[in-house]
Amino acid sequence: MADDTTDTKSSNQMWGGRFASGPDAIMEEINASIGFDKKLFAQDIRGSIAHATMLAHQGIITTDDKDKIVHGLNTILSEIESGNFEFSRQLEDIHMNVEARLATLIGPAAGRLHTARSRNDQVALDFRLWVKEELQKTERMLTDLIAAFLDRAEEHAESVMPGFTHLQTAQPVTFGHHCMAYVEMFGRDRSRVRHAIEHLDESPIGAAALAGTGYPIDRHMTAKALGFREPTRNSIDTVSDRDFAIEFLSIAAIAGMHLSRLAEEIVIWSTPQFGFVRLSDAFSTGSSIMPQKKNPDAAELVRAKTGRINGSLVALLTIMKGLPLAYSKDMQEDKEQVFDAAESLELAIAAMTGMVRDMTVNTARMKAAAGSGYSTATDLADWLVREAGLPFRDAHHVTGRAVALAESKGCDLAELPLSDLQAIHAAITDKVYDVLTVEASVASRKSFGGTAPSEVRKQIAFWRARN
Ligand code: ARG
Repeated sequence: MADDTTDTKSSNQMWGGRFASGPDAIMEEINASIGFDKKLFAQDIRGSIAHATMLAHQGIITTDDKDKIVHGLNTILSEIESGNFEFSRQLEDIHMNVEARLATLIGPAAGRLHTARSRNDQVALDFRLWVKEELQKTERMLTDLIAAFLDRAEEHAESVMPGFTHLQTAQPVTFGHHCMAYVEMFGRDRSRVRHAIEHLDESPIGAAALAGTGYPIDRHMTAKALGFREPTRNSIDTVSDRDFAIEFLSIAAIAGMHLSRLAEEIVIWSTPQFGFVRLSDAFSTGSSIMPQKKNPDAAELVRAKTGRINGSLVALLTIMKGLPLAYSKDMQEDKEQVFDAAESLELAIAAMTGMVRDMTVNTARMKAAAGSGYSTATDLADWLVREAGLPFRDAHHVTGRAVALAESKGCDLAELPLSDLQAIHAAITDKVYDVLTVEASVASRKSFGGTAPSEVRKQIAFWRARN
């Protein structure tokens, strides 16, 4: 009878010391992360170079071994970058793929690299470095998007459009003011990004498996070499923590929600019924059957990407929620969620920046729509308060009667003859017509943060100084 402790497959060369046989094929498939974590190759190699340099500095390995390790790692970096590296699923993940190749390249010295570290702090390091770079990229991309909106806001500080609540015409606003609402939203997203960078700016390497190490390592040295502010302060938390990934996903979800609201407005505005904007050919598509169509596909896909990003956030929160401290293999599932959300977010921001810069704004259509729906009714009520001394509630009632009359005559408020208005309230004079135009309406709203062109210009200046 065959001895079932032997197997034709050999055990894992990195951790297989106590294993007599290799993994089942399904085990290998469920265990391997190389298919996606190869994305971390540059961070893995950077981390290993910093670790080896520190080990030599502390006298834990020789300078000779360190030199061999660093040289070998740089060779591997160029092999991967030039596409001349063979990734192996048997070697599970990026960390062991790199280390195995290092052993082939430099021999036994390679085995000294993993002194005083574990894959648990190694993966925490690589992933943090990746997320940090992604956050920095997101910050730059949001800055571009804000700049695009600032340019459109400046151009349209005086262009009047209908402001909506419940998607019903409410009061006239300026298109510049509406653009600046998005500047505020993406400005908040960018400050969340900056806070997240501050939160994650601590180096995990040296936490080892979970308890730290007996070797005389210098974690401040590796932290500095890798561009972190300082090392993390608790080795158990360090290898258990994925808050930095969850924060990235939360920020992505909130920014995605903002992008999706913008996408929805662009979809509405670009319909022939609204006709407020016309998308450039670069950001729309035609229909294969209906020749007249110009579809806002990019905006629709931005709206949809938000669903994927939200899914990633919920997935990672769920992966983490029941895990005891410290590391569990469940945590390997963190990466795909973050990689996918990062790709979606980048695409969505880039597409929106392009659309905002390229779209043609139809100011005539906007202005015509701004005057419909009795949008200056509030201005009439305010005039009655200011000029005729009515309490606002009474003024509201009088205005309501004027709107009803205009509606029954099928005309605008400004088209009602003075005699009609005076029949509703005797204090009304022909001065009232000055406030019934949409331009007068927006110009009057000079309260801080209001829609008057003068106020909008102040806010543009505020953001220009910060962008
Ligand atoms: N591929 C693993 C991950 O992404 C690396 C850490 C493995 N650590 C371990 N003790 N098995 O999480």
